[in-house]
Amino acid sequence: MCGIVGYIGQKDTKEILLHGLEKLEYRGYDSAGIAVVADNGVKVFKEKGRIADLRSVVDDNVSSTHGIGHTRWATHGVPSQTNAHPHQSDSRRFTLVHNGVIENYRQLREDYLSHLSLASETDTEIIVQLIETFVNKGATVEDAFRKALKKLKGSYAIALIDEQDPDTIYAAKNKSPLLAGKGEGFNVVASDAMAMLQVTDQYIELMDGEVVIVTRENITIKTLDGVVEERAPFTCELDVNDIEKGTYAHFMMKEIDEQPFVIRKIMQEYQDDNGRLNLPEDVRQAMKQADRIYIIACGTSYHAGLIGKQFIEKLAKIPVEVHVASEFSYNMPMLSENPLFIYISQSGETADSRSVLVQTNKMGYKALTLTNAPGSTLSREADYTLPLHAGPEIAVASTKAYTAQMAVLAILAVDTAHVKEIELEFDPIQELSIVATAMEALTDQKDEMEYIAREYLSTTRNCFFIGRGIDYYVGLEGALKLKEISYIQAEGFAGGELKHGTIALIENGTPVIALATQEQVNLSIRGNVKEVEARGASACIISMKGLEEDGDRFVIPKVHELLTPLVSVIPMQLISYYAALHRGCDVDKPRNLAKSVTVE
Ligand code: M6R
Repeated sequence: MCGIVGYIGQKDTKEILLHGLEKLEYRGYDSAGIAVVADNGVKVFKEKGRIADLRSVVDDNVSSTHGIGHTRWATHGVPSQTNAHPHQSDSRRFTLVHNGVIENYRQLREDYLSHLSLASETDTEIIVQLIETFVNKGATVEDAFRKALKKLKGSYAIALIDEQDPDTIYAAKNKSPLLAGKGEGFNVVASDAMAMLQVTDQYIELMDGEVVIVTRENITIKTLDGVVEERAPFTCELDVNDIEKGTYAHFMMKEIDEQPFVIRKIMQEYQDDNGRLNLPEDVRQAMKQADRIYIIACGTSYHAGLIGKQFIEKLAKIPVEVHVASEFSYNMPMLSENPLFIYISQSGETADSRSVLVQTNKMGYKALTLTNAPGSTLSREADYTLPLHAGPEIAVASTKAYTAQMAVLAILAVDTAHVKEIELEFDPIQELSIVATAMEALTDQKDEMEYIAREYLSTTRNCFFIGRGIDYYVGLEGALKLKEISYIQAEGFAGGELKHGTIALIENGTPVIALATQEQVNLSIRGNVKEVEARGASACIISMKGLEEDGDRFVIPKVHELLTPLVSVIPMQLISYYAALHRGCDVDKPRNLAKSVTVE
């Protein structure tokens, strides 16, 4: 969603800010802007659309070494140049960018700003107008900033510049991520280290309720009451190459191809030198003591949770419930006596999941986060974290993080089985190694996937995914992948459920992608395929070696039945990719979507 960058140093800031914003494009946005402090005042450039559109309106002749920038994903007010950030105070002295949502912006407007007519429809403008109002009443800028922050209800990461002070960026955060970055003779702020990796890898993490005053030489952190806090920087381990596409046309394809490597990396990270699983002891004890596990997640991570339930129940013998975070927060089921909450989130910043975590923390329940972003909000606020080790995932459509989530859940289930002295009939680590090899075989068959996408999906307006058991959950993920990047209406169904209503939608040529990787339900799902074919559907069966029949459209290599989702999802990802490509869609940045969904 929204992104923030800020730079104060010696170099021309425009290109640093624009480049930083380009690195945040993957998060999803609909407008962008920068503000720089030039010799003759603050210059603001903003535009609806892509950073390329913003670049076209930035005046190359303006030079400055101090500025802030923003990518906006609209919440309050339509995507437009006026609503794009930065926003300015009435006199234009103060200029500000903001991520998050100010819940009490109407009240604040009524209480403090009724004398002003506002330029935009945003909640953000209220903040900058409040600051100026307090300064006009005699407060220093820093005091006015802190006073305004104390009045805000909601989430924010903010960067502020003052036309009368060419030496300072003020920033603050509450529930939205923000980092301060250290350099030699310059300093930066950013909502994501990726944005500023080009200039520094040294970052200081800011905490909720803190203010940071950034000059060329210093970064000073204070509480909202003005007490100075000391914090050492950390080195951001991200490799700049990890966030470049290299020779790939799209990040999504690069990330699909990285999956075998990610599985091997996870196996390596979660084993010691003797090949024994090495999960943290406190995680082991939390799993052992839980009488029921509640998995909380959204979107693709929720789908990984559904598979995780199978792993944990079948291997570790602990009952598991999987819940969509946005529903759970106000519709909590009866909880067991000793629950453990597992939060699954690629980004670690998803507001819906965090909202549940805040509640379960208040209730005193233990929480474990599985995330690709250790250090993220969900990681910091949970008791324990298991990293996904997938490397940065840039494409909005989650691929390698999904398979990484399933792999870590499998390892967690196996480890718990060991701790509980439950004997397993197979060697899961060896099986994961077979999975990685099978993934490689699939990513080598892209031509066939492109052909399937062309044959079934080039003109259709809808598509159904069916499966039974664990295949049903992969079908849900296949449908989500297809709809989010190709805009084809796609739904996943349990094979047996179709005839209870949805089969009415089957017409001549309706594509139905059926998964058949589970021996126990192989005949039943094939029966469901016959039902839809009898009504004109164009069925595409994807089966597993050993269960295949004549006429199956694609056969995936044989892996352990429980682990098939890690492999069978790859054709779903590739077919979705090609369907989107054939339809001319922006594969990596689908419309209306954001990579990190930081509003509820
Ligand atoms: O960062 P998270 O895993 O918490 O994100 C959850 C969903 O927003 C995410 O999985 C979304 O559904 C993806 N775009 C799916 O590809």
